Amino acid sequence: MAQTKTYILGIESSCDDTSAAVSMNTQILSNVIATQKIHEQYGGIVPELASRAHLQNIIPVVSEALKQANIGINDIHAIAFTKGPGLLGSLLVGTSFAKALSMALSKPLIDVHHMKAHIMAHFIDNKMNRKPTFPFLCLTVSGGHTQLVKVSSFQHMVVIGSTIDDAAGEAFDKCGKIMGLPYPGGPLIDKLAQLGNPNRFQFAKPKVDGLNFSFSGLKTSFLYFIQAETRKNTNFIQENLNDLCASLQQTILDILFYKLEQAVKNECITEIAIAGGVSANQGLRDRLKSYETEKKWKVYIPDFQYCTDNAGMIAVAGYYHFLEGQFTDLNVNAEARISAF
Ligand code: KG4
Ligand code: ZN
Repeated sequence: MAQTKTYILGIESSCDDTSAAVSMNTQILSNVIATQKIHEQYGGIVPELASRAHLQNIIPVVSEALKQANIGINDIHAIAFTKGPGLLGSLLVGTSFAKALSMALSKPLIDVHHMKAHIMAHFIDNKMNRKPTFPFLCLTVSGGHTQLVKVSSFQHMVVIGSTIDDAAGEAFDKCGKIMGLPYPGGPLIDKLAQLGNPNRFQFAKPKVDGLNFSFSGLKTSFLYFIQAETRKNTNFIQENLNDLCASLQQTILDILFYKLEQAVKNECITEIAIAGGVSANQGLRDRLKSYETEKKWKVYIPDFQYCTDNAGMIAVAGYYHFLEGQFTDLNVNAEARISAF
């Protein structure tokens, strides 16, 4: 019997990327992302400017997603959108747009948790057709969050560890700013780290109980080190940039993997996934991949396009809600801070 084709329009606007995608079941037909360049000159996201840019981008991005998917707006079965967590002004644009569209088209509305959607990116069809099996552990690392999540089913996800201060992506970006790199520092540090010596410099690693993380001590240690060295040599950063990036990245990865290994031991689970913007990091991907043989873990690494914020993951998360009949009504509101899952 032919499988039912369910088309979901996904909308993502939690931070500084305006994105729309169309999924057909777990296949992504289009995934359009408008990245806001305006924040680069400010060294970080300016929330007010992000909201305005979302307003400008949302209609063209949705139109393009429908066009690339080669379907009409009336062909979609439901509209899934990011309810939170994220920047409230940014979330409100996607939420209001989704609600208006739902009302105009009389199509059901599905609210999606942004961090859960990062994990759900693993259920998007891929070339190898490799998807994690339950239960698995997911290290979810982005600009706003750093979490260890035990995923027992699509419905049942439990955060077993999280950062008590900065997120891993924030550590990359803030240290990038200290080195004078443009925002966001993460991707550039990744690139430069590939040319440097990761053992050249040592930075502080926090001691935090249980499966929680901390990155603010590393940032401070990095700042003090740079200040001290540039007092001695004003060209210190330029002369040592690759080694600084490689050493910093290695420290961040050590912090992440130390807790991930602890979680593997505690939970006796070796089915391991990574998700979120920082999962695009080549060093992180390579180290996780090497643990497949070294530690006999079964590892799952998302396609690059589904690591950083994208609406494809929202559409597929929406599809699984659709299958369960989990819809929301027009009273739904964006929530900047939203409980774990
Ligand atoms: O998931 P995401 O797109 O947005 C949030 O939900 O926060 O993650 C953005 C974060 C930024 O901090 C960015 O610097 C980081 O992901 N990031 C990276 C890389 N690509 C993005 N960090 C390290 N290496 C990368 N290749
Ligand atoms: Zn994200």
